[in-house]
Amino acid sequence: MDTKVLKGQEAIRLGAELINNGEIVAFPTETVYGLGANAFNEVAVKKIFEAKGRPQDNPLIVHVSSKEEIYPLVEEVDARCEKLIDAFMPGPITIIMKKNSSIPDSVTAGLPNVGIRMPLDKTAREFIHASHCPIAAPSANRSTRISPTLAEHVLEDMNGRIPLIIDGGDSKVGIESTIVDMTSEVPTILRPGAITMDMLRNVLGDVNTFEKKEIKVALAPGMKYKHYAPKCDMVIASNTDKIILEYDNNLDKNPIIICRSAMPYGNRRVIELGKSDEEVCRKIYGALHTGEQISGYIIAEDFDDDGIGGSVMNRLNKASGGRKI
Ligand code: TXA
Ligand code: MG
Repeated sequence: MDTKVLKGQEAIRLGAELINNGEIVAFPTETVYGLGANAFNEVAVKKIFEAKGRPQDNPLIVHVSSKEEIYPLVEEVDARCEKLIDAFMPGPITIIMKKNSSIPDSVTAGLPNVGIRMPLDKTAREFIHASHCPIAAPSANRSTRISPTLAEHVLEDMNGRIPLIIDGGDSKVGIESTIVDMTSEVPTILRPGAITMDMLRNVLGDVNTFEKKEIKVALAPGMKYKHYAPKCDMVIASNTDKIILEYDNNLDKNPIIICRSAMPYGNRRVIELGKSDEEVCRKIYGALHTGEQISGYIIAEDFDDDGIGGSVMNRLNKASGGRKI
C-alpha cells in the first residue's frame, strides 16, 4: 500500500473520504498523532489493531469535534462530567464514561465504558467534523513504540500499512491526554498528562490517582503493556554528576544526554529541551525518537515530579523500563 502524506484542506477532504470508505487515517492532535477509523464501523476498527499490532484487549479512545457529539455515545453526561467537559474540552483530556450500545464492543475491548476526547488541534477537529462520525483512535505508533509527535514519526512506523497521514506539523502538547475515569465514585486519573491533578481538583474537588489506589488490575488496560520504548538502552539519572560519569564510562555506546539545558555538560552530546515544563513536555518524544536514531545509549535527566513534569516522568520511567541511577 502506498502511504500518502498530505497537508491542509486536500488532506482533510481525502481523510474524510477514506474514513467513510472504511479505511484508517493518521491525523495530528495537540497531544500525539492518532490513527483513526469510523467508531461505528467494526471492520475499519479492526484495521487499526492490525496496523499497530495492538493487543485486542486494549480499548480505543473515541474522538469528537463538538460537545453535542458526546451525548449520543454515552448513557448519561452527569453534572460532574458536564463541569469537566466545560472546563477542559476541547483539550488534552480523555473522559471515561458509561457507553451506550451505539459504540461497538470492539472499540472498548468489551468494557462497559468508553473514553471520549475532543482535541483542541484545528486540523484534528476539521477532520473529525468532515468525517461526520466519531473517530476511534489510539496513538499512531506501532505497539510498544514511542508515540508520534510529527508526521515523519508516523511514517517511520506506518509506511505501507495505511493509506494516508494528515500532516499538521508538530504536536503542541507532546504527550498523550490525561485520562480521567468518571465512572468511579471519586474521579480517578488513570494516565497523567498536561491537565494536572491540581487543575482537576480545582474543578471537581476530590480526585484520586491510579497509583495511589494501588489497584492490581489495570483500569486503563493499556497501562499493563510495555510502552514508549526507544530501540536503544536508556537510563534516568538523578543529578548532573551521575550523568557526566555515566556518559564518560559508556563512550563506546555513543551516548546522548536528554536535558533541560546543555550548560553543565561541556562538549558532550546533548538534546536540549528547554527550561519550562511545557517545552520539556512538547519536545520529549521527539528527543527519544532522535536519540534512538543517532545514539546507542540515552541518559535522561530526572525532571520535576510535580504537575506536568511528573507526567513527563511517567513516560520516561516507562521508556527506560524503570532503570534509574
Ligand atoms: O492523547 C491521546 O489520548 C492520544 C490521541 C491520539 O488522542 N491517544 C492515545 O490513545 O493515547 P492510546 O490508545 O495510545 O492510549 C489510550 C489509553 C490506553 O492505555 C487504553 O487502555 C486507555 O486509554 N483506555 C481507552 N479506553 C478506555 C476505557 N474505556 N477504559 C479505561 N481505559 C481506556
Ligand atoms: Mg499509545
